[in-house]
Amino acid sequence: MEYLEIKGGRALSGTVRISGAKNAALPMLAATLLAGGSFEIHQVPDLQDVRTFLQLLKELGVEIERTRDSTLVIDSSKLDSFEAPYDLVRRMRASVLVLSPLVARLGRARVSLPGGCAIGARPIDFHLKGLELMGAKLEIREGFVEARAKRLKGAHIYFDIPSVTGTENLMMAACLAKGNTVLENAAKEPEVVALGKMLQDMGAKIKGLGTDTIVVQGTTDLRPVSCTIIPDRIEAGTYLMAAGAAGGELVIENCVPEHLETVIIKLKAAGLKIKVIDADKLKVKRRGRLRSVDIKTQPYPGFPTDLQAQIMVLMATAGRLSVITETIFENRFMHVAELKRLGADIRVEGRSAIVKGVKHLYGAPVMATDLRASASLVLAGLAAKGTTVVQGLEHLDRGYEKMDEKLLSVGARIRRIGDN
Ligand code: EPU
Repeated sequence: MEYLEIKGGRALSGTVRISGAKNAALPMLAATLLAGGSFEIHQVPDLQDVRTFLQLLKELGVEIERTRDSTLVIDSSKLDSFEAPYDLVRRMRASVLVLSPLVARLGRARVSLPGGCAIGARPIDFHLKGLELMGAKLEIREGFVEARAKRLKGAHIYFDIPSVTGTENLMMAACLAKGNTVLENAAKEPEVVALGKMLQDMGAKIKGLGTDTIVVQGTTDLRPVSCTIIPDRIEAGTYLMAAGAAGGELVIENCVPEHLETVIIKLKAAGLKIKVIDADKLKVKRRGRLRSVDIKTQPYPGFPTDLQAQIMVLMATAGRLSVITETIFENRFMHVAELKRLGADIRVEGRSAIVKGVKHLYGAPVMATDLRASASLVLAGLAAKGTTVVQGLEHLDRGYEKMDEKLLSVGARIRRIGDN
């Protein structure tokens, strides 16, 4: 098994280039199912989750060619299967994003139910109820959800909680439905907006992207397009925090500063110096000890749950007491036990973690339990005195493109050791 060995205590310096966003790439790849013909998608990150999704598309009959490093040509003209098997959905819940495009295009989908996940129960009831309101007949059998509809019809749908993939799934369904669909309390994440813009380019009639209410006027006529995946705001935030954990000065290039507004406000409050130096570049600098700030995760534009574990590392050595409250997922504190192995002083009470800053973390072997937890352990390794060994890299590799190489290039003492 591969693992990372990190010798902490070295300040970072240099430039890190951000890759395309995993959580924009997955729905945008799903959207290629909505229209036959040749799509060209640029800045596709080379990640395990993307590879899994491409494998799923291939099993559905989609042809995929990699023309340049991060450009894919995707053609779903020969789409001939409507089934997403358990083995792939089990590996990646976002596989459920093929549900709506398959029903909308083929009139039928059979998608394995994803089951629970390390960070929470993560049901997909909003996706299913929405499709039912749009006229799909649903049946749950043998661990699969089967959905059928000759043609979906527009509906008025309200999300009890703004769900990212729920909004994406139903927005895709609505594009090919008959009549108008209104999605109320919809998710406003930049990844949802990116998908919406791709769909608009394909000919979909969508209004209200980036607001609580998305209105889609259905059409029968979508066409393939060429598009570029937006930069990964979570990866960018993770590197801002890497500079915070290790100290030093980094330039983060190929990012969208606007997508990181709340994160930047919090990091500045914690004492990091952050400057927008270009439309797509940020400079971050840490000198001295950070200040404790309280954090509450919220749907966008609030502080992202996908950066909660990473900011906890900064708070672990900050001046005072910080309360970090996780409101999105009920079990997203599994990194706490690992951070405590490095000497962090953290107590979990219900949905909050009370973090009392200690002077130093000390290296130790740790085990990653999920994607963002694994990134937090890498940051903790950069901050800690001595050597940290991070195991469970299959999680990190799902969502961070070459994280060890990127950190090495800015001066971190980090090595990937193991089989390959
Ligand atoms: N929810 C329901 N029912 C549903 C759908 C969601 O109760 O049918 C609940 C969830 O349990 C959760 C809340 O609604 O409490 C929000 O979940 P959401 O549906 O927004 O999450 P998601 O779409 O499954 C995406 C990202 C996650 C990210 C969350 C929140 C993708 C592929 N995944 O998940 O990314 O944490 O939004 O921003 O876009 C990650 O990249 O590490 C990751 C987990």
